[in-house]
Amino acid sequence: MVKKNIENDLTYIEKVKKINEGKNLKYYILTMGCQLNENDSEKICGMAEEMGYTKTDDIIDADLVIYNTCCVRENAEEKLFGKLGEVKKQKEAKGTIIAIGGCMMQEEHIVNKIKKSYKYDVIFGTHTLYKFPKDLYDAIIENKKITDILDIDGEIIEGLPIKRDDNIRASVTIMNGCNNFCTYCIVPYVRGRERSRNPEDILLEIKKLAKEGYKEVTLLGQNVNSYMRVEREKGEEISEINSFAKLLRAVNEIKGIEKIRFTSPHPKDFTDDVIEAIRDCKKVSKFIHLPLQSGSTNVLKVMNRVYTKEQYLSLVDKMKKMIPDVKFSTDIIVGFPGETEEDFEDTLDVVKKVKYEQIFMFIYSRRRGTPADKMENQIPEEIKHRRFDRLKNLYENLVEENNKEYIGKSFEMLVEGYSKTNNEYLTGRTDTNKVVIFEGKEDIIGKVVNIKIISDHKWYLKGEII
Ligand code: 5AD
Ligand code: SF4
Repeated sequence: MVKKNIENDLTYIEKVKKINEGKNLKYYILTMGCQLNENDSEKICGMAEEMGYTKTDDIIDADLVIYNTCCVRENAEEKLFGKLGEVKKQKEAKGTIIAIGGCMMQEEHIVNKIKKSYKYDVIFGTHTLYKFPKDLYDAIIENKKITDILDIDGEIIEGLPIKRDDNIRASVTIMNGCNNFCTYCIVPYVRGRERSRNPEDILLEIKKLAKEGYKEVTLLGQNVNSYMRVEREKGEEISEINSFAKLLRAVNEIKGIEKIRFTSPHPKDFTDDVIEAIRDCKKVSKFIHLPLQSGSTNVLKVMNRVYTKEQYLSLVDKMKKMIPDVKFSTDIIVGFPGETEEDFEDTLDVVKKVKYEQIFMFIYSRRRGTPADKMENQIPEEIKHRRFDRLKNLYENLVEENNKEYIGKSFEMLVEGYSKTNNEYLTGRTDTNKVVIFEGKEDIIGKVVNIKIISDHKWYLKGEII
């Protein structure tokens, strides 16, 4: 696997820092989309801070405004254009530098639209994150607009500075890109082909996090359980740790890390070795995100998900048998082209059977360049919305039903801090991501405690320390 040499690109951090010296400049960043984008933003923040900018949450104070964009669904696009419209005045008034990066910038029609109708200084893509300092330098020094998009695959970037959002939980990207080409999804077109980071680099990063006091890591990738698959098939793996199962076991050995999560896996890659690793590794969360997308075998086929309703359900059954107390969350799309009432009923049926703890629900959104966008049997908006509401209702009932199971039981959880909605309480989350509030002293923040659940308030639970 090719590791890109970015030494020369990183020298621009120092160059921009020199230009910025003594100016007390601030940056503002808005991140759209998934945890992978959030992790990229942490790297952008790392670079910005080393270039002498300090972070502000108030865009008005910012000398550098960064948008890290997502294009998985349409609403992100509307949001970006709205924001670019708003920031225009600020740019005209005080010369704020505007940098736009991320997935949406890998789409030619979007970049063309920005160039034509909006103000910006730097446009960078998902493959050119590491060039952000150089692009910024060129924009400042040459006072011109920079567009730096590459359409390449298979490179691994290591060694970017990083400024993490949290000091207890950390995300670690283990692989990038996707080879699955689900027919609704734009990710393979904007993030490129699947490539995995070397296990040594990943383990080194996590050991460093443990030393710094981090307790929880989330392993990230578009398709985490196919970690090293491409490399394995090409005979390019360089280590014993050449699968997701082995990586989980290796991370589980790292002292100081108490909880390991991962997202997102693909049902088709949930091989027995992965299930066994989850079962055997004490630190690996037993709350698994298992994207369903649709419960109908017909729709799944057209989506190119390569599993049937029955195969998905039997995977769930197998996992329930092999991993005691396993719980699931999922992603579901409603209104995919050609989805009939019967197909939708199949989705509801799977939801009832699996009894997910958490469901991320999406209305199908046409993405230019994807096969599903060209399908003629698009579903009318009102039907999509009606189905979405039905799914939402079912989910809300399920939340209430699932919550009952929690009352009287005790759960170990990390104390994350004060509750944002009620600062008399501390807050943590069960392994299944349920927010729990409880009374306690400040000095237990960052520690793992045992909490008994005493009452249910639908979207959160109340508990007491035992
Ligand atoms: N429309 C709606 N939802 C989508 N997702 C991906 N592409 C689309 C689309 N075109 C959802 C999938 C995926 C999640 C990250 O976003 O459910 O798992
Ligand atoms: Fe998109 Fe499917 Fe790849 Fe997930 S697995 S990123 S939904 S193409």
